[in-house]
Amino acid sequence: MNLDDIDLLASTWGREEPHEMFALLRRDAPVFRHREPDGDSFWAITKHADVLAISRDSDTFSSELGGTFIDTQTDEMLAKSRLSILNMDPPKHHQLRRLVSKGFTPRMITRLQDTIDKRAQRIIDDVIDRGECEFVEDIAAKLPLEMICEMIGLPEADWPRMFELSNKLIGFDDPEYQASPEEGELAAIEIFTYCDRIANDRRSDPRDDIMSALVHAEVDGERLDDLELNLFFVTLVVAGNETTRNLINHSMLALMQHPEEVAKLRAEPEHWTTAVEEMLRWGTSIHNFRRTATRDTELRGQRIAAGDKVVMYYMSANRDEDVFVDPMRFDVTRQPNDHVTFGGGGVHYCLGANLARSEIKAVMQQIVQRFDDVRPAGAPRRLHSDFVNGIKAMPISFDARPAERA
Ligand code: HEM
Repeated sequence: MNLDDIDLLASTWGREEPHEMFALLRRDAPVFRHREPDGDSFWAITKHADVLAISRDSDTFSSELGGTFIDTQTDEMLAKSRLSILNMDPPKHHQLRRLVSKGFTPRMITRLQDTIDKRAQRIIDDVIDRGECEFVEDIAAKLPLEMICEMIGLPEADWPRMFELSNKLIGFDDPEYQASPEEGELAAIEIFTYCDRIANDRRSDPRDDIMSALVHAEVDGERLDDLELNLFFVTLVVAGNETTRNLINHSMLALMQHPEEVAKLRAEPEHWTTAVEEMLRWGTSIHNFRRTATRDTELRGQRIAAGDKVVMYYMSANRDEDVFVDPMRFDVTRQPNDHVTFGGGGVHYCLGANLARSEIKAVMQQIVQRFDDVRPAGAPRRLHSDFVNGIKAMPISFDARPAERA
């Protein structure tokens, strides 16, 4: 393989991650001008240090100018996408982030911990006697969505509908999920309506939940208006759902491929904290986020012009030989583990990182403690997307561990 063979766009996804291409880029062209089919191009960034530097310099690398997706957006699309916190630059970003962070305090996540653990247990209760299941739908997809619904305060009977809506909203490149733009908008409107109802309720009758924290949050006399609240919840559905689901999928795949690491976790459960970080590094469920250069600049000798697209490849950064010892090895005791799965730091660092960590740990602990000899019951089907590193379906079979059978 040489640099002429590099193609990181959708045509190559839907299969295993292109580790060989990433390794070549890190070695020979860490700031690589990548062509797009429409004649446009972007800079593909594959080294860990560069992902950190770009993420932490939002003056030079904007999320707002061209949005955070690789594809060039029309002005109309951009105007809409800039209503989401992900596609805002400071100072606008700062104001909104200060308000919404009020819903994600460590206290709030600690309070949710009990619910997370109980729900994870129930999800496994539902499949343990069957000996086989479709892992994505029956296990991985459940907890992240349940927790978002729980946080919004939706009645449990409406959760399946929320699941459908969230799939429509995301509209991947994958034909199986492809929703028309109209369908996506209708899904958003339905979510907005739900959200309005719950927000109104919590304004007059606050509870100890994230919605109450958000509607009452005030910074310097400012509050979130209805539109901001709505858009924030759509962002949560998009940002918090697929990402965590796929991280759990990849963690399961990793444990099936590395039974010795499962044995280690059973024998020495004190490794769970490092294990979750390794699952995050290994699974890297978002392929990339994009920035747009606000001025001419230079990176590793390459001249980046104002207006150029700059795309950070998190999976590549997470396998960078300069940062990780033996990076292609899955090691639940790995320490240090400075992965960039939640972004490279800076103002957009993932707001749901601790929630995601708790969810991943709760589900994977249940599996390690209660399942024996988990094995594939068919090949996993990968998602066609140049944004989400996804698995759509992964049939597995397993035995219940002796304690369960007793
Ligand atoms: C394994 C699971 C997750 C992964 C891999 C992930 C990944 C990321 C990444 C890479 C970013 C940075 C975007 C950028 O730099 O432009 C981000 C931001 C964000 N994430 Fe996550 N995320 C996960 C789970 C969650 C969860 C559970 C939530 C909430 C329920 C969430 C909410 C957010 C929000 C609101 C932002 C935007 C923050 C801002 O712009 O200030 N994420 N996430």
